[in-house]
Amino acid sequence: MLCFSTANAPIKHWKNKRVWMVGASSGIGLAVAQSLQAQGARLTISARHIDQAQWHHNTSVDFLEMDICQIEQIQTAIEQLTDVIDVVMIFAGAYTAGALSRQNVNDINSTINTNLLGVIHLSQALIPKLTNQKDGAHLVIVGSAAAYLPMPNGAVYGASKAGIAYFAQSLYTELKPQGINVSLVSPGFVRTRLTAQNTFVMPSLMSTQQASDAILNGLAKGTFDIAFPKGFTRMMRVINALPWCLRQWILNRLNQQETQ
Ligand SMILES: NC(=O)c1ccc[n+]([C@@H]2O[C@H](COP(=O)([O-])OP(=O)(O)OC[C@H]3O[C@@H](n4cnc5c(N)ncnc54)[C@H](OP(=O)(O)O)[C@@H]3O)[C@@H](O)[C@H]2O)c1
Repeated sequence: MLCFSTANAPIKHWKNKRVWMVGASSGIGLAVAQSLQAQGARLTISARHIDQAQWHHNTSVDFLEMDICQIEQIQTAIEQLTDVIDVVMIFAGAYTAGALSRQNVNDINSTINTNLLGVIHLSQALIPKLTNQKDGAHLVIVGSAAAYLPMPNGAVYGASKAGIAYFAQSLYTELKPQGINVSLVSPGFVRTRLTAQNTFVMPSLMSTQQASDAILNGLAKGTFDIAFPKGFTRMMRVINALPWCLRQWILNRLNQQETQ
């Protein structure tokens, strides 16, 4: 069946929109925050540590320190957000590069707790507040293109992102009748402190500004799965859809290149 409607209500203008940005102290989240602030949005920025000085006492930006892995901190933060929230964007993410055998228990727990459990707990805690608002709120969850194809040496991070992709897709259907929009953002490689750990060549590496533009373009179109860069993410989906032996041949070659 052809579908002509957009998945979500398009967000074309940001002036006076109230946006809670979780994990926007650096990287992609910071670039989106700077862009939204320039477009007149009213921001609340959360992370564990925030360098407030870089915002030069901007009156349209508030700060709320919060660890997404601590349920009590999530609840306290939501109680402090007494205003209506139009959009919540969850960028918070953790990543440790390398093979499973090189990761310790803390690396594994931090990745799963931040990228999967933290995002699930925050989304659940937000539902009563977002449901009680008159105008449709929008929840933006940042996953990864890693969910499209199980890459070598990405087992834990990829599992967390595949899990959150499933979560966002399921939540979209669950929250639609309550008037809440849900989007999933699936970036390829973006130059941040997170990818600075990688020692391999990252194809189609983007700047945080390019990633921010892609996210805001996707939201302006009302897209559910905001995946970028297009060529790279399409290629990952195509490789994943290949017959098993072909797909494995490609992944084995990638693994050999990485371990050389
Ligand atoms: N860079 C890429 O190539 C890429 C590709 C695909 C997906 N992504 C995803 O994009 C998102 C942003 O990543 P990035 O590359 O911009 O990395 P980043 O620069 O390291 O930003 C991560 C942000 O999350 C915050 N954060 C981390 N743990 C947190 C916690 N427990 N509670 C609250 N905030 C927390 C960090 O601030 P604090 O440390 O101060 O808390 C920071 O603001 C992540 O979900 C990542 O998985 C990135």
